[in-house]
Amino acid sequence: MSTNDMFIWIAFLLAVSASLLLVLLLHSCRRNKTSSSRLPPGPPGWPLIGNLLDIGNKPHKTFIELQKKYGPVFMIRLGAMNVLVIASADAAMELFKSHDRAFSNRQLGEALKSLSDDYCPTPSSAYGPIWRRNRRLYAAINSRTTIKNTLGRRRQFVDQIIQWILVEEKAGRSVEIRHLTSVALTNLFRNLFFSKGVTDLNSTSTGNELYRLINEIGVLSTEANVADFFPWLRKLDPQNLTSRMKKAVDACLNTIDELAKERKSRGIGLSNNNEKDYWDLLMDFEGDGKDEPSKMSDRHINWFIMEVFIGSTDTVITSVEWIMTEVVRNPEVMRKAKDEIAKAVGYNRKIEESDIESLPYLCAVIKEALRLHPAAPFLIPRSTTEDTKFMGYIIPKDTAVLVNVWGIGRDSDLWDDPFTFNPERFLGNATDYNGRHYQYLPFGSGRRMCPGLPMAHQILHIVIGSLLQSFDWSLENGVIPESIDMNEKVEMSLQKATPLRLIPRASALAV
Ligand code: HEM
Repeated sequence: MSTNDMFIWIAFLLAVSASLLLVLLLHSCRRNKTSSSRLPPGPPGWPLIGNLLDIGNKPHKTFIELQKKYGPVFMIRLGAMNVLVIASADAAMELFKSHDRAFSNRQLGEALKSLSDDYCPTPSSAYGPIWRRNRRLYAAINSRTTIKNTLGRRRQFVDQIIQWILVEEKAGRSVEIRHLTSVALTNLFRNLFFSKGVTDLNSTSTGNELYRLINEIGVLSTEANVADFFPWLRKLDPQNLTSRMKKAVDACLNTIDELAKERKSRGIGLSNNNEKDYWDLLMDFEGDGKDEPSKMSDRHINWFIMEVFIGSTDTVITSVEWIMTEVVRNPEVMRKAKDEIAKAVGYNRKIEESDIESLPYLCAVIKEALRLHPAAPFLIPRSTTEDTKFMGYIIPKDTAVLVNVWGIGRDSDLWDDPFTFNPERFLGNATDYNGRHYQYLPFGSGRRMCPGLPMAHQILHIVIGSLLQSFDWSLENGVIPESIDMNEKVEMSLQKATPLRLIPRASALAV
C-alpha cells in the first residue's frame, strides 16, 4: 500500500468513530493555548488523527508551506505522535551543536520493534551501549585502512558495470541506471563481506534474491504504519506490516546465513591482512565484555550484515540515479565534467579513486545533485531522550524530530537561485557534506551522522567518474532534457519516480 493510500485508509477507518465525536470535540480541536504555550507553534489538528491528513504524500514540500506560516521550528501531531520539524539551517545548527545529545534517540517503527529479537538495527536503536558497539563496527569497516584495502573490490564492481553497459550498447539497447547499479552494488557488498564473486545482471541467483529481500525490508520499514500513530492498534497489525516484515527478515537472514556459513567454511583471514574482508573484521571484533558481550553471536552478525546491505544499497543507488539525471538534463555540465576528466586523467587509463581530489568539478556536480536530491529528505527521524528546552520551547520526551534537509537545501535565503542545478556554487568554497555546514546536510550531522559516508563518498565518485569517462550519454528517442520526469516518490529513500533510461556510446577506453 502506498503512503497516500494509507492516509486515505486511515481517514476512512477513523472517520466512522471520529464523526460521532466530531461535533462535541470541534471546539477542542484548536490548540489549547494555555497548556501548550511552551510548545512550538504548529497547525491545528483534528481529534485523534491530528495533522495526518494535512501532510500529503510529499511531506518535504508541505513542510515548506508550513514553515512560511509557523517559522523555522514547528510542531505537528500524527495520531498520538508529536513531531517536531526543523526547517532552517540556523535551527539545525542549534540542534546539532547545542542539543545533539538530547535529540539522539530514534523513533523505532512498530514493524521493526516487534521482531522479538534482541538485536536492534543501528539506524533505529536507542542511544546506548548497543548503538555504540555498532558504531564501532561501522568505524572498523569504514576506517582509512579498510577503505584502502578494499579498493580492488570497488574497482571490480565498477569494471563490472562498464562491461554490462558495453553488452547493452553492442545490442543497441538503452540501460536502466537504477537496475545496473543495484545488482552491481549488491555484488560489491557480497564481495566486501564474504569475498564472493559476481552475480549476472539478469540472473535469479542469491545475489539478486538478496537485493530483492533487502529492498522489500527497506520498503516495509519505511511504509507509514497506522500502528505507529495509534498505539492501541498495535496488536491488530492492521496492514499486516509486522507479519510481512517478519517473513522478509527471516528469509533475508537465512540467505545471509548461507553466505556466512559458506564463508566460514573457507576459514578466517583468506591470505594476509590486506585481503581481510568484512566478515574477518566482524570475527576479529571484541566487545568490552561489560555493556556488551565480548563476541557477537552468529545471529547478531547476520543482523548487522543485513542492516549494512539495507543502509548502503538504496541510498547509494538513489543518489547515483539522481546525479546521472541532473548530468543528462544539463548537457553543459556533462561536457564540463567530461572535459575535466579528459584533462586530469585522459583516455589511456581508467579513472581511479586517487584521482578524485584532482577533479573538483566532478565533486561539485555530485554535491550539487545531493543538495537538490538528498536520499533522506528528513534525515532518519530522531527522538528526544528527555523533556528538552530548545529555542525557547519545551520539547516533550519521545517527540519525533524531522530535519527538513530537502527544504533547507532549497532555501532562497541560503542559496542563490536554489532550484537551478549549478555545480559552480560549490567551487572555490569549503561547503561540504561533513556535517559541519548546516545549510547542507545530505549525510546528517552530530552523533548519529551517517557512518557510511567514507564508503559512499568513494563509491559515488568512482561510479559517476567512470560512467562519464567511459561513455557518452544521450536520452531515449522522444525525450529531451526539459521533458525528463523529475517527480519523486517516497520509498526507503526519496527516489526518482520513473527509472532513468539512457543510451550509452562507448569511448575508446571502454572498448
Ligand atoms: C549516498 C549514500 C548515503 C546517504 C545519502 C546516506 C545518508 C544518511 C543519513 C542522512 C543518515 C541519518 C543521519 C542523521 O540522522 O544525522 C544516515 C544514517 C545511517 N547510514 Fe547512511 N547514507 C548513505 C550511505 C550509507 C552507507 C554506504 C552505509 C553503510 C556502510 C550507511 C549506513 C548508515 C547507518 C547505519 C545510519 C544510522 C546511523 C545512526 O543512527 O547512528 N549509509 N545515512
